[in-house]
Amino acid sequence: MANIRNFCIIAHIDHGKSTLADRFLEVTNTVDKRDMKHDQLLDTMELEQERGITIKLQPVRMNYRAQDGKDYILNLIDTPGHVDFAYEVSRSLSACEGAILVIDATQGIQAQTMANVFMAMEHDLNLIPVLNKIDLPSSDIERCSHEIENTLGIPKEEIICVSAKDGTNIKKVLDAVVNRIPSPFLHGVSKDIDNTTKALIFDSNYDTYKGVVAYIRVVSGSIKKGDTVFMLGTKKKIEVLEVGYFKPKYQAASILKSGEVGYIVTGLKSVREARVGDTVWASSKIKDIDLAKPLPGYKKVLPMVYAGIFCIEGNDFPLLRDALEKLSLNDSALVFFPEQSPALGFGFRCGFLGLLHLEIIQERLEREYNLNLIVTAPSVSYIIYFNGKDADKIRKNTGLEPDLDMKVVISNPADFPDKTYIKEIHEPWVKLELVTPKKYVGAIMKMVDERRGVYKNMSYLDENRVFMHFEIPLSSIVIDFYDILKSISSGYASMNYEIMGYIKGDLIKLDILVAGEKIDALSTITHKEGAYHFGAKIVKKLKNIIPRTQFAIPLQAAIGGKIIARETIAAFRKDVTAKLYGGDRTRKDKLLKKQKEGKKRMKQMGNVNIPQEAFLSILKRD
Ligand code: GTP
Repeated sequence: MANIRNFCIIAHIDHGKSTLADRFLEVTNTVDKRDMKHDQLLDTMELEQERGITIKLQPVRMNYRAQDGKDYILNLIDTPGHVDFAYEVSRSLSACEGAILVIDATQGIQAQTMANVFMAMEHDLNLIPVLNKIDLPSSDIERCSHEIENTLGIPKEEIICVSAKDGTNIKKVLDAVVNRIPSPFLHGVSKDIDNTTKALIFDSNYDTYKGVVAYIRVVSGSIKKGDTVFMLGTKKKIEVLEVGYFKPKYQAASILKSGEVGYIVTGLKSVREARVGDTVWASSKIKDIDLAKPLPGYKKVLPMVYAGIFCIEGNDFPLLRDALEKLSLNDSALVFFPEQSPALGFGFRCGFLGLLHLEIIQERLEREYNLNLIVTAPSVSYIIYFNGKDADKIRKNTGLEPDLDMKVVISNPADFPDKTYIKEIHEPWVKLELVTPKKYVGAIMKMVDERRGVYKNMSYLDENRVFMHFEIPLSSIVIDFYDILKSISSGYASMNYEIMGYIKGDLIKLDILVAGEKIDALSTITHKEGAYHFGAKIVKKLKNIIPRTQFAIPLQAAIGGKIIARETIAAFRKDVTAKLYGGDRTRKDKLLKKQKEGKKRMKQMGNVNIPQEAFLSILKRD
């Protein structure tokens, strides 16, 4: 155990985690040079490769001969960088004793750097500060080192300057891992040792050949093939079919001993049964299971953003259900339940961690399962407290099921009850942290203020950059906040957020009527103040998005039956074959076919086509 080091890399998005991990794999000969045919080896998903982002954490085991001449086993857990996946970071942290903190030397400390450092400190991890990208002329080692020392309280001398691109000083980092990060044994895990076997599940994965594979960190005892173990959370009994390490592909081994990071093949059918954060437990005295204390686990992740997913072809519904089931096998954060919309037919209401998560799932459904989808505008969830105590009456009149406190959580604006039943509505708020050059402070303050955010405080990282704290409704930042932040700060500001809880708000439902028909999928929940303005803007936008038809289409925004804004799309018929005179029949057919294909991404609603962009664009501000 003394020669094992378990560590992860934390960084703001794009500061170079995956590139650094690639260099580690090279230096330690973990991966054959021949196999290094593409970069970012730990990003195995096709989408990860394409977008150059890490979505799932990925462990790997490396053998390294350090400067002291001894051989070490280094377990690295790569982590995702996007805020949506912050919970993955916290998971890998609890499987480690130390973390490499990567900071881009051309950018310095960013919002997620701060969030990650605080998280690492909570987990009591040793930090190794690394300044990356020193090969770039715009890197500023002096300024960044100063910032790290001043803001994070880490002495300058501890900082290692590297280039993950050209490989400068990579071995120095690995030697620091060996020297500055304690072995699992020295790190106080012994307090959990009680002569039983315990391992923490920090991730789980569904493999087509092996079934559910649990990624574990053994804390005490050992696990080998054929052992009978239990999941402490569910008391589920399992026979271990295989144990092994990540190289980074699965490599079977004979045994996993305490302190080690590896995997077990469980024979389970769904990743939900090998719940992340659960404890794998085994003992010669099985009776003791009721006394066994689980290892400290993780908070269950809750979806933050909801959207309806519908198929354009109605018959694809069973395919969509299968596809979502398959995706959720590997993604415990994805939730879905059937939804029926008068306008869009049968589909699913799905819960996501954030907008990037939604985009990824949508893209995978379309790409891997060949589905043509309509995704409705994302919304957060709301808690509705009902008037009165008569649950039966409320059930009957609203179709909602109040709990004992006479409240219900809704994730679909279409479920919003009539205001006569509502006592209070609560919406989720977040703590928002921003790092920005100080010249953008004014513009950022204005933007946060327009979105109902509350300024808390601000501190200086150096004479030019500030660290700002706000509180703001989640719904205000979900859609396009990040994009606008980037554009008003010329790309320099960065953000991180964390859910605070639900707070009472003055909210109403805004309905949209197209050709006199209420389109439930276009309903949104919005703050009372500004609702009129918002309604007027939506119909104006829809006017430009919804294609004309042979007859005029009225577009209306309504609050509780009262029309507050109206636009009309004038009648029009587009004859795509108008320009053709005589000629071959096939030319005409070709044009008509093209027109037909153009409509593929639209959904017939009554007599009106509503294109996919309509759903998202209504929520985007200008
Ligand atoms: P996420 O996984 O999305 O969080 O990003 P990441 O932190 O893993 O960053 P990644 O390794 O994908 O690097 C981001 C970009 O920076 C890529 O285009 C890399 O090629 C580039 N990059 C990383 N390290 C260096 C470096 O040392 N020098 C230079 N010039 N570019 C680098």
